[in-house]
Amino acid sequence: MSITLKAGALFSGIGGFCLGLERYGVETSWAVENDPAAVATYQRNFSSTRIVSDEHGPLSITDIDVVRDKLEPVDILHAGFPCQSFSTAGERKGFADPRGRLFYEIIRIVNQFGVDRPSVLILENSPYLRYGEGGEWFLELSKELKKAGYWFRNENAHEVDAFDHTDLPQRRNRLFMLAFNYDRFKNGRVSLDLKHTEEVKDLARFIDFEGAVGDEYYLSPENRYYKMIAAKYIDRRRLYQLRKYMVRVKEPGECPTLTANMGLGGHNVPFLFDAKGLRRLTEYECLSLQGFPAWFEFPPEVIRTKRYQQVGNSVVPAVVDMIGKGVVCKLKNERDK
Ligand SMILES: C[S@@+](CC[C@H](N)C(=O)[O-])C[C@H]1O[C@@H](n2cnc3c(N)ncnc32)[C@H](O)[C@@H]1O
Repeated sequence: MSITLKAGALFSGIGGFCLGLERYGVETSWAVENDPAAVATYQRNFSSTRIVSDEHGPLSITDIDVVRDKLEPVDILHAGFPCQSFSTAGERKGFADPRGRLFYEIIRIVNQFGVDRPSVLILENSPYLRYGEGGEWFLELSKELKKAGYWFRNENAHEVDAFDHTDLPQRRNRLFMLAFNYDRFKNGRVSLDLKHTEEVKDLARFIDFEGAVGDEYYLSPENRYYKMIAAKYIDRRRLYQLRKYMVRVKEPGECPTLTANMGLGGHNVPFLFDAKGLRRLTEYECLSLQGFPAWFEFPPEVIRTKRYQQVGNSVVPAVVDMIGKGVVCKLKNERDK
């Protein structure tokens, strides 16, 4: 008998998690995301998922009430919660930062479900969450998950870099944490097939170095960033990344982590030389370097800076796919012990 599994998406963004889990037949029943532009892109591509909203628009997780908002119980609840406060790139305030405290909203929602709480929680964040404040952040997270009724140990947290584990050329190292409901499982063990790939990556699969795109993506030779990057030119097969005062030249076959601050200005987007000149990656190239399928599209009303930000915020569906396979297998074989 085939069982249809249902998921709830917290901090759904444009749906990287949802895409990865769909491959195993997991249907997203509802999604919580408070950025209207991210919701527009999400809805364009997942028209049958309910975005939890009221008459003013999509709700913040802090305003969600499971009973009032009639959230259907789900098998899997996933939450790629905001990572700025747990990342080495930020101020590292952890749970003291209001964005870090959004983690407790996940726990609040799980508790509101009561006996119908999800069988599995999949959380995603920066790998540094494990080490911050000498391991205190991770300890706090573990304590909260256990208190909410979930098996969770150090072994349930997996660092996965998309570059090492998928056919994508993007360096993207993230922490995936899996917690299993005490009432549904005998233990929290799960076997994941995190294959290591030795494949040599080819950026030309994602970027047309021999072609040209719209003028708006190119830098003028008069531009000071043009001069900085051109001074470092090696060849046309690679990406060039502008840091504050320097240019990082990437290896051929390697794309740096695409970050949400790409949405803060064009100069945060990696550059390349093509047949027409020096340009930044297009938002669709970023989307494919993030592993999104060719049919995925941005709605016309979502402006380019928002599109870049949305890609930079997203999880890689192919990584979720690998993790989802193990989770779905455990759910189907062991649930209702
Ligand atoms: C790291 S991204 C999530 C990526 C996503 N889980 C995926 O599958 O690709 C975090 C998302 O949380 C959203 N967010 C931040 N604060 C929120 C809040 N208070 N309520 C709902 N969503 C929020 C952001 O707009 C952003 O899209």
